[in-house]
Amino acid sequence: MIIFLFPFIYIEPSKSEGKMTKSSVTVEYPPGPRSRLPNKLLREFINDPIKIVMDIAYTYGDIAHFKFGRQHVYLINNPDYIEDILIKNYKNFIKSKGLQVSKRLLGEGLVTSEGGYHDRQRRIIQPAFHPNLIKKYGDIMTSFAGNMSHQWQDGNTLDIHKEMIYLTAAIISKAVLGSEIKPEQGDEVGDALLICAEYFNRLLMPFGELIQKIPILGVNKGFQQAKRKLDSIVYSMIAEHRDNERKGVLQSDLLFTLLQAQDSEAGIERMTDSQLRDEVMTIFLAGHETTSNALTWTFYLLSQNPSVDAKLYEEITSILGNGKDTRIPTIEDIPKLEYAEKVFRESMRLYPPAWTIGRQAINDYKVDKYIIPSRSIVLMSQYVMHHNPKYFPDPDRFYPERWTKQAKLQLPRFSYFPFGGGIRGCLGEPFAWMEGILLLSTICQRWKMHHDPEHKVELKPLITLRPKNGMRMKLELRDKNCL
Ligand code: HEM
Repeated sequence: MIIFLFPFIYIEPSKSEGKMTKSSVTVEYPPGPRSRLPNKLLREFINDPIKIVMDIAYTYGDIAHFKFGRQHVYLINNPDYIEDILIKNYKNFIKSKGLQVSKRLLGEGLVTSEGGYHDRQRRIIQPAFHPNLIKKYGDIMTSFAGNMSHQWQDGNTLDIHKEMIYLTAAIISKAVLGSEIKPEQGDEVGDALLICAEYFNRLLMPFGELIQKIPILGVNKGFQQAKRKLDSIVYSMIAEHRDNERKGVLQSDLLFTLLQAQDSEAGIERMTDSQLRDEVMTIFLAGHETTSNALTWTFYLLSQNPSVDAKLYEEITSILGNGKDTRIPTIEDIPKLEYAEKVFRESMRLYPPAWTIGRQAINDYKVDKYIIPSRSIVLMSQYVMHHNPKYFPDPDRFYPERWTKQAKLQLPRFSYFPFGGGIRGCLGEPFAWMEGILLLSTICQRWKMHHDPEHKVELKPLITLRPKNGMRMKLELRDKNCL
C-alpha cells in the first residue's frame, strides 16, 4: 500500500553508521536505523510514530539519522542542539514542505509564512498577546467553562475530549472575533470550523505532505466548502470591525486589536483585509485543539491519580471557597493556583499536545561532528525529551510536585518545550496557560471525573497528541451544596 502512496521510496544500505557521496562530497551520517526492506521504517512510523522516535532516540542517542524514501531525516535529542536550531540558528531553517500545502487554508498566516515576512508579521501581532492584554479574555474562559459544566449531569458519562474541543473552539471564536460561534453538531459554522481544524492539524505536522497523500484519511473531504464558509464569515467580520472603527465604536476582541496594529517605528503599515483574514484564521485554528488535548489528558491523569486530584481540589476550595460560598476563578487567582499550574505543566510533559517539531535545513548545518546537508529534515520531539530520565526521574510517573522553582531553573531550556521556542515558538503560550489553569479549576471545582473502564485509551499521534477514541468519563458532582 505504502509503495503506491510513496513511489519514491528506495532501499537503504544496511549499516548503523554510514558514508555517502553528495555531489562529489562525502557525507558522514550519524548512526540510525537502516533496513534492507523498502519502506519498513516509514510504514512503522505511520503505524506508531511515537514508538519509532522513542526507540530511535534511546538506541542512537543525541543525534540519529534515517531515511523516509529519499528524504534524509535527523532526530535531534539533545536540548542544547535543539536550542541552537530553534533559537541561535533559526534563520538556517524553514518549516517542512507540508506547510506549502496548508497555505490553501491559511494563506500567509504566522504558522505558514517564512523568513522576513513572517518575522515582520510576528512583530506586529506579538504585542496583542502580551499577558497584560489577554487578561480581558479570562472572563470569557471561565463563563464558557462554567456554563458548560453547569449543563452536565451527575452520574452521566461523556466524551470529555469532544466537550473540550467544543469549549475551546467557542472560547477562541469569542476572543478572536468577538462573536459566539457554537461548534455544536448540526451547526453549519461549527462544523466548518471543525473540518478546517482537522485539515490544519494534519498538515501542521512534519511529513504533513506525506499524510496529505493518504486518501483513506479523507483529509480533503468537505474542506473546500468549509473553507469558503469560514472565509465569508471572517471577511464579513473584518468589514464590520472596520465599519465600527470608522464610527468610533471600540471592540475588545483580538480582530479589532489586529486591525489597529501597526509598528510605526519599523515603518510597518496596518494589515490589509487578506492579511487579517490569514492571521485570524491561523489563530482561530492554532488556538483550540492543542489546549483541548492538554485538558483532556489532564482530566484523564487526574482520574488515574486520586491523591493528585484530592490535592488539586483542596487548593481550589481553599482559594475559591466551597459549598454555597463557592465563586468561579478570575485571572487574579491564577498566581495563587500554584498546584493547578503544576498539574497542567506535568500533564503537558507526559502528553505534549504538539509532540514533535520539524524543520528543513536551508544550508548545510553542523551538529556535533556531523554536517546535516541542506534540504534534510530535522525532527525535535517534545515527547522524547519530556520522557528522558536524565531530566525527569521516573519519567512515566504523573508527579506535579517535581515542578519546584529550583527544578525549573536547573533544567536545560529545551528539555521541556511544549510550546516550542524562539521566533517560531507558540504565539498563544500566555493565552494557553491562562486558559489551561482557569478551565481546569472551573471544571474541577464542580466535577470529579472517573475514567470509564470499558473505554480503551490510545494515543493518536500522527497529528497533535489526541486520544484516539475520545475520552469517556463518568461525572461525579463533588459537592451537592455547590451552586
Ligand atoms: C496547550 C496549548 C498549545 C500548545 C501546546 C501549542 C504549541 C505550539 C507549538 C509547539 C508551536 C510551534 C510549532 C513550531 O515551532 O513548528 C506553536 C505555534 C503557534 N501557536 Fe501554539 N500552542 C498552544 C496554544 C495556542 C493558542 C491558544 C494559540 C492562539 C490563541 C496559539 C497560536 C499559535 C501560533 C499563531 C503559532 C505560530 C507561531 C509562529 O510561527 O510565529 N497556540 N504552538
